[in-house]
Amino acid sequence: MPVLEVKNLKKSFGQNKVLKGVNLTLEKGEVLAVIGSSGGGKTTLLRCLNFLEIADEGEIIVDGEKVFYIGDDGKPHVPNNGGEYMGLVFQQFNLFPQYSVMDNLTLAPRLAAKRCPDYKENKKSIIEQIESQAREILAATGLSEKHSAYPCQLSGGQQQRVAIARALMMSPKILCFDEPTSALDPELTGEVLKVIRSLKDSNRTMVIVTHEMEFARNVADKVIFVADGIIEEEGTPEEVLSNPKSEKIKHFLSVLKKDEI
Ligand SMILES: Nc1ncnc2c1ncn2[C@@H]1O[C@H](COP(=O)(O)OP(=O)(O)O)[C@@H](O)[C@H]1O
Ligand SMILES: [Mg+2]
Repeated sequence: MPVLEVKNLKKSFGQNKVLKGVNLTLEKGEVLAVIGSSGGGKTTLLRCLNFLEIADEGEIIVDGEKVFYIGDDGKPHVPNNGGEYMGLVFQQFNLFPQYSVMDNLTLAPRLAAKRCPDYKENKKSIIEQIESQAREILAATGLSEKHSAYPCQLSGGQQQRVAIARALMMSPKILCFDEPTSALDPELTGEVLKVIRSLKDSNRTMVIVTHEMEFARNVADKVIFVADGIIEEEGTPEEVLSNPKSEKIKHFLSVLKKDEI
């Protein structure tokens, strides 16, 4: 059974039809790279997958559970706690500047724990468990020494690694990244890509919007090229990046190549 199925997802902003019917299937442990020109709808797709935007039509099915759909009454149905299904790492990190690294990681799980019926009587052990999970994740992302630092005291690469660690705290079934290295100086992209690579090695299912074609080639199982609100081309990295068929993707890749030179 696929871990993610997206069916006919559509989203408009006013007259602007941004997603015109996106269909996707992802198996457990697979990495999907999403590529495409600016303004093509990649961020909107990720935001709809993370329920930060509410799609107008379509379905999102996670592990066989229909988590987003339009009901018979025409109203969209969105899960109460979307974070258990989907996590999102933003281009600009979006850390809470007023909180330490540790608090950035533990804030959402602590708020979620408060909603549990046994929270009051088990508060101490619940918080200890959340903090111990945070320490484990910080160690796995190479950030143990930074647990008390504030975001402004960290490099961009470290901040993005904190953002990844924070997303992992909710144990989402699918982790999404929106151009995770595009706000970083080139010398800092490697450390972030290394963490993402290690997540792939530990069998995480991920959707990664990226302009790093070499990274997409190395880490992705599937690549989709999004243009004008549809998936214009899809396949293995070899198929899409080395043997593109449509003129749009050929043009997109040739412009990227020129930029790299
Ligand atoms: N919140 C919003 N309100 C209105 N228009 C939006 C909003 N978010 C995105 N758009 C529009 O949707 C289109 C796709 O944007 P986006 O999903 O950010 O593309 P990409 O990430 O591929 O560059 C653009 O025309 C953009 O202006
Ligand atoms: Mg974008």
